[in-house]
Amino acid sequence: MADIRFDGKVAIVTGAGGGLGRQHALELARRGAKVVINDLGASLDGSGGSSAAADQVVQEIKAAGGEAVADGGSVADDAGAANLVKRAVDTYGRLDILIANAGILRDKSFSKMELADFEAVMNVHLMGTVKPLRAAWPIMREQQYGRVVVTTSSTGLYGNFGQANYGAAKLSLVGLMNTLRIEGERDNIRVNAISPVAATRMTENILPPAMAERLKPEFVTPGVMYLVSEDAPHGVILTAAAGAFAVARVYETEGVYLGDGGLSAEEVRDNWDKIADPTGQQAYTGGQEQTQKFLRKVMGQ
Ligand code: NAI
Repeated sequence: MADIRFDGKVAIVTGAGGGLGRQHALELARRGAKVVINDLGASLDGSGGSSAAADQVVQEIKAAGGEAVADGGSVADDAGAANLVKRAVDTYGRLDILIANAGILRDKSFSKMELADFEAVMNVHLMGTVKPLRAAWPIMREQQYGRVVVTTSSTGLYGNFGQANYGAAKLSLVGLMNTLRIEGERDNIRVNAISPVAATRMTENILPPAMAERLKPEFVTPGVMYLVSEDAPHGVILTAAAGAFAVARVYETEGVYLGDGGLSAEEVRDNWDKIADPTGQQAYTGGQEQTQKFLRKVMGQ
């Protein structure tokens, strides 16, 4: 099969001043894309900001013979997100790829977490994905081409102590993807999610140095390149670390029909093993499949 190339394609990578986003941007440019390097230059908790980090990555791409432009706005800001998409179209005339990668952390156990810490994290991860994507969507529809990657996390999929805000924000992106997969289908817009593990400043305090060496962010990037390629899958959660890749899915059990006469909490309790039995469980591709399953059971099928 032919190599994956992005010649003639225009991409935005948010939070591309360092860590994973920088690697995604460098590789897109190396494979021929014109790339808008967005980064607010924020500290890990989202405070402060300068476009120096984005400028630096632009210089790296240009030095290697690629094309890139910097954008120092915040993705969580209405004007910042709109300007970011406008910059791509004004500079390069189209927009084919959006990798929503920008993120912050405000870790604390839930009992100590201020609502402001919850809102700030939701704002950057969820709205900082929604706002650029909402601005990009009509352009991708018009072009009848779009490839989008949202960045989720094992914390969102499975949980992690001290990250209730981050986990809620990260799984919200999977919910966003699930519906945009359905809505994007007819316009050739494919939306996927990456769940990475990588040694970046976000994880430097929790990863021992020997492990960090095996978890370079550039080991995640090939998976993301496939997710934004012409032949990308659609609606997939790709998990990636250290050069290993897997797919995460939500499964629902077949369950059991308990009838509607004398239904009680005790009946649910007493049938728990059947309700939770994994035999025949399925990963649905739309909410209606769940409803259809229940109706089928009512009909005795
Ligand atoms: P990082 O901290 O190196 O990169 C995040 C970038 O986003 C920073 O350069 C920061 O300046 C930028 N940013 C923050 N707020 C912004 C805003 N409002 N507008 C524009 N840019 C903003 O961290 P890393 O690890 O590269 O994270 C990238 C993404 O991967 C994040 O979404 C993170 O949650 C996710 N992730 C990372 C994991 C890891 O193991 N490193 C694990 C799971 C998810």
